[in-house]
Amino acid sequence: MLKIFLWLALSLFSGGGLVIYTLQDQYEEHSVAFRILYRDVTVKLSQHETILSLLSVTSDPSVLQQKFPQILAWKPLPHTASTYTLLPAGNGTYWVSAQHFALLIDLKALLAELPQSHYFQHIRLNWQNTPLIELGAADQPTYWQWDKELSSTAQPFELSAGNDPDWARLPWLLLLLSLLFWAGIIYFTSQYRMQKRQRNIAVLREHFSELTRLNAMGEITAGIVHELNQPLTAILGYNQAALRLIDQQQIDKVPPLLDAAVTQIKRISALLQQFRQKLANSQAAFQKVNLGKIWQRVTMLLENEIKRDKVKIINKIPDNFPDFLAEPLWIEQILHNIVTNAIQAQQHKATGDAWVAISAEQSAEGMTIVITDGGPGLSEQALQQVFIPFFTTRPEGLGLGMALTETLVQRLNGNIKAENSAGQGACFTLWFPFNTQEE
Ligand SMILES: Nc1ncnc2c1ncn2[C@@H]1O[C@H](COP(=O)(O)OP(=O)(O)OP(=O)(O)O)[C@@H](O)[C@H]1O
Ligand SMILES: [Mg+2]
Repeated sequence: MLKIFLWLALSLFSGGGLVIYTLQDQYEEHSVAFRILYRDVTVKLSQHETILSLLSVTSDPSVLQQKFPQILAWKPLPHTASTYTLLPAGNGTYWVSAQHFALLIDLKALLAELPQSHYFQHIRLNWQNTPLIELGAADQPTYWQWDKELSSTAQPFELSAGNDPDWARLPWLLLLLSLLFWAGIIYFTSQYRMQKRQRNIAVLREHFSELTRLNAMGEITAGIVHELNQPLTAILGYNQAALRLIDQQQIDKVPPLLDAAVTQIKRISALLQQFRQKLANSQAAFQKVNLGKIWQRVTMLLENEIKRDKVKIINKIPDNFPDFLAEPLWIEQILHNIVTNAIQAQQHKATGDAWVAISAEQSAEGMTIVITDGGPGLSEQALQQVFIPFFTTRPEGLGLGMALTETLVQRLNGNIKAENSAGQGACFTLWFPFNTQEE
């Protein structure tokens, strides 16, 4: 739509310029013709004044009419007149008299002799604001009009002429070419831009796949840094709380904290085990996985953050949701990363307003898991780049969480989609086949 509008605007602009230029050119041409016509009529009329002063009774009427076909008749005046008199005689004729004679002039014959008179669609000679003669269609206004007073003492007429532009002489071919030219320019520019965009995407993809296929060490290091950060922070928190309680002699409250710390330490151990497996290139151990249980474990691992930010956890996983084959730690990592982001996105919300919801649905070939949150949603840029390694909008973020998540999802032959919910908030949709297997 925008392209069509741009094409029309550019074509109109360049075509309009061309038309204006050509019309101006034609106008100049017609103005020159009018000036010639004006000069010729002036010359003809001045001849009448000369004839009147030279005419005598002995002059031969046939010679005069042969030379000046516009003089229809002439007659002697009953008495000498010192000034010129003009008397319209209808149908483009008039009597002009002076001295001893009066001449009957036919303007039609006069104009017919002038080549420029055929040039105009409409010609008129006015005398005292009344038309003496009118050639062409007087009732049809013309596009251009020229008017000028004739400088004749005896016949002070006003000459008017009108013409329309010669539309056929407009540069139609050029106009058509300009339409094609702009269509071509817009087409090639958009093709170029599309290809450039595709190249950029290809570069980004290459960058991404290079990173996801990073040599084992690089990937593992980045993964370790990302995945161990949260449990280590949690352990630190539990231990500090335990120390405080011991100081306060509340020994009985210490064991649950140490239990929680042990769970986190076990998670670290499992993660390290997984990384070690990857280094040794050994196959992942696929087991039956219960989504509801994994969800519970994830919310338990993130207990500190959930409590701190008062995040409401909404679990809509059906009770009878079937178990499936997968590496449980991967599913846990996937959910853990998504929920961590959802909590972080809502950190600045009013207390009690934050929430994260999970729902799951099974279809013939697989299952769909949807995780939504009450945050501000993904920015335009995040929507495009959320899975690209090192893309982050958080000052303390690494930008690895979602990249690792996508890698894990792909290893399970699934796919992940990031979008925003209709109202607001991010919405991550995961799909896995039931017989999940590593690639
Ligand atoms: N639920 C969400 N709501 C809003 N923005 C999100 C959400 N999840 C991800 N994002 C955006 O995607 C970016 C990338 O997320 P990702 O988890 O890959 O990196 P990160 O959280 O910034 O850093 P880290 O490596 O520590 O996870 C985030 O910085 C954020 O801008
Ligand atoms: Mg993250």
